[in-house]
Amino acid sequence: MNPALPPPRRAHVTGWGRYVPSQVLTNRDLERMVDTNDEWIVARTGIRERRVAAAHETTASMAAVASMRAIRTAGIEPDDIDLILLATLTPDYWMPSTAALVKEAIGNTKAAAMDVAAACSGFVYAYASAQAYIASGMATHVLVIGAELLTRFLDYTDRSTCILFGDGAGAVVLSASDEPGGGLGIEMTTDPQGAYMIWLPAGGAKSPPSAETIARGEHYIRMEGKETYRFATKTMATTALESVRRSGLDPSDIALFIPHQANIRIVEAVAKGLDLPMERMYVNLDKYGNTSAASVPIALAEAVNEGRVQVGDNVVLVAFGAGFTSGAVTIQWTADPARGIAGDAAVDPDEIHVRLPVDWDSVDPIPEALAAIMAQPGSLDVPLDDVAPGEPEPAHREVHA
Ligand code: ACO
Repeated sequence: MNPALPPPRRAHVTGWGRYVPSQVLTNRDLERMVDTNDEWIVARTGIRERRVAAAHETTASMAAVASMRAIRTAGIEPDDIDLILLATLTPDYWMPSTAALVKEAIGNTKAAAMDVAAACSGFVYAYASAQAYIASGMATHVLVIGAELLTRFLDYTDRSTCILFGDGAGAVVLSASDEPGGGLGIEMTTDPQGAYMIWLPAGGAKSPPSAETIARGEHYIRMEGKETYRFATKTMATTALESVRRSGLDPSDIALFIPHQANIRIVEAVAKGLDLPMERMYVNLDKYGNTSAASVPIALAEAVNEGRVQVGDNVVLVAFGAGFTSGAVTIQWTADPARGIAGDAAVDPDEIHVRLPVDWDSVDPIPEALAAIMAQPGSLDVPLDDVAPGEPEPAHREVHA
């Protein structure tokens, strides 16, 4: 190393926030849609319920609320952000980027904004990119978002996929610092052998949308569950381990792993692969299901706000997803965990708006089968004590026009 060069700047998490829609879809609700049952879903996945965005919500609107919470937690202004990276596989539109819509909604005038496509690994990929921008001196405060509205891309006649996914958004602010700590080792992999194991066949250049692609249901997510499961259990632990090693640490030095929330059995396999107890794994998939790129930042925000992360703790974010992709980052936590609760409370979701086009309106975005079930009286009364301060009251059976 050339001693004349300044050391690379470090990237510290200074803000974090999340937003989940208030509507809950339980396993019992799904029993009334497809041939499944609560016992099977809980035993095979650990998922009990997931959130469903209301008709007026979009990936950008959820992302904007999570972002403002992260910005308030960081104690900076929206215009202090100079780069916005938004990971999603469910953008509001093909173009412009969802990141551009979020930039406007949060009132930022200065940042470059772009989306990152790496499916469920997207947030970790975006986080790693943000760290590189900061280390190189190209950015000072980067807003990194994971946001998904998956319930509009699911086939509610396919019991092997529609039970797994839910909606939500999470965000962090990464800030440049010369202080020790912050982002450490990174590992990212992509295995195109898995390209067609999780995919959405139609709508792109290979198969533009048409009445025929819709009749074939090719606008819905398809997945080879067993192959994906095999990949995830094999890759998550090795990816996490490589990131930890690159940080000069051992898995036993990690206070908390925050894995992609796909399936409790996959998380258990990660713990086993790292020879660590499940107490070192953060789990909230029982409440939200798999929210793809949003799952890691939602879990991170909740883990910190619940007091599971303290200053000085080493934390690993690790994910896998379509591609097949996987990624892990190791962080030494430096921010006051108490800031997150106040940051959440400072933001009223109703006051954040994504601008709509003036001469165009979408058709009803909620899939018919889902709208029908959400309109019926529920069989379970689910306590919503996990709703963050400042979020709207839960409206479990409410269908928004
Ligand atoms: N309810 C009841 N029975 C079901 C359901 C259901 N919802 N789904 C499948 N079954 C049945 C199957 O038809 C099968 O029946 P059969 O034996 O009569 O043929 C039986 O249950 C077992 O099915 P498997 O597919 O073997 O079940 P498995 O234990 O593998 O669990 C699951 C399926 C949960 C999908 C699992 O494979 C999994 O979690 N895979 C990983 C998925 C994942 O994490 N995806 C992330 C995507 S990441 C991204 O980038 C989007």
